[in-house]
Amino acid sequence: MGESSANTATGLLTELGIQIRAVGPEGVPGALLILREASRWVSSRGLPGWSDAELQATDLPHHSAAGALIVGFADESPVACMLLQRSDPKYWPRATSGSALYLHKLAVRRAHAGRGWGSRMIAWAKSEAQRQHIKRVRLDTWADSRLAEFYGTHGFRLIDHLAELRDGMVMCRMECRSNRCTLLHADRPTVQRSPLHGRERKGFREVNPQ
Ligand SMILES: CC(C)(COP(=O)(O)OP(=O)(O)OC[C@H]1O[C@@H](n2cnc3c(N)ncnc32)[C@H](O)[C@@H]1OP(=O)(O)O)[C@@H](O)C(=O)NCCC(=O)NCCS
Repeated sequence: MGESSANTATGLLTELGIQIRAVGPEGVPGALLILREASRWVSSRGLPGWSDAELQATDLPHHSAAGALIVGFADESPVACMLLQRSDPKYWPRATSGSALYLHKLAVRRAHAGRGWGSRMIAWAKSEAQRQHIKRVRLDTWADSRLAEFYGTHGFRLIDHLAELRDGMVMCRMECRSNRCTLLHADRPTVQRSPLHGRERKGFREVNPQ
């Protein structure tokens, strides 16, 4: 994707009070708040998620220094976050360097959930991969879960199931192609019907699919 179209999309979002960008150390407390809240929400629903120990071990200052901590802001308030890393030796140990960006720790503040933030963050990740001339975005998640389905509706396909269990559940690896995205006005959202749930989803339109 050329810089000009990336800038156009960014400009549009900024006008809407929406900004997604890599943050430095100053963004770490906001991201931690989002992750902790998401983790509490997940465990309150009896679902597998990140333990406190795992969140503590996630070295956000290190990731922010590497440009891998991405935060979504609504009117300058941090509402979504993710890590976008250049390698994932744990789940993708044999991957060639530079073949993918690896998405981890995607989370949205509950007050902003269900408003397309997950979609926006994923769209940003795909666009960023394309901007860096990296062909894929990859992730790991719980197999056959609502989350795997969520990622499936965002273009991720199942690569394989992993032998290792996490929280007693099978994990899987998924990937999608990088892609230039046009982010639409929040007051005129694209409404997509999930083929699986028939639910309306606010989102974005991808252009130039590969
Ligand atoms: C995943 C997430 C970023 C998506 O945010 P969003 O785009 O605003 O969408 P929603 O919060 O409405 O979530 C989409 C669906 O995924 C479900 N979901 C979200 N996290 C889930 C989890 N950890 N396990 C199972 N289902 C989950 C939601 O319940 C919702 O399902 P529904 O549409 O059937 O009600 C957000 O739900 C979140 O922060 N989840 C907790 C953290 C997490 O699990 N991150 C992913 C790690 S792989």
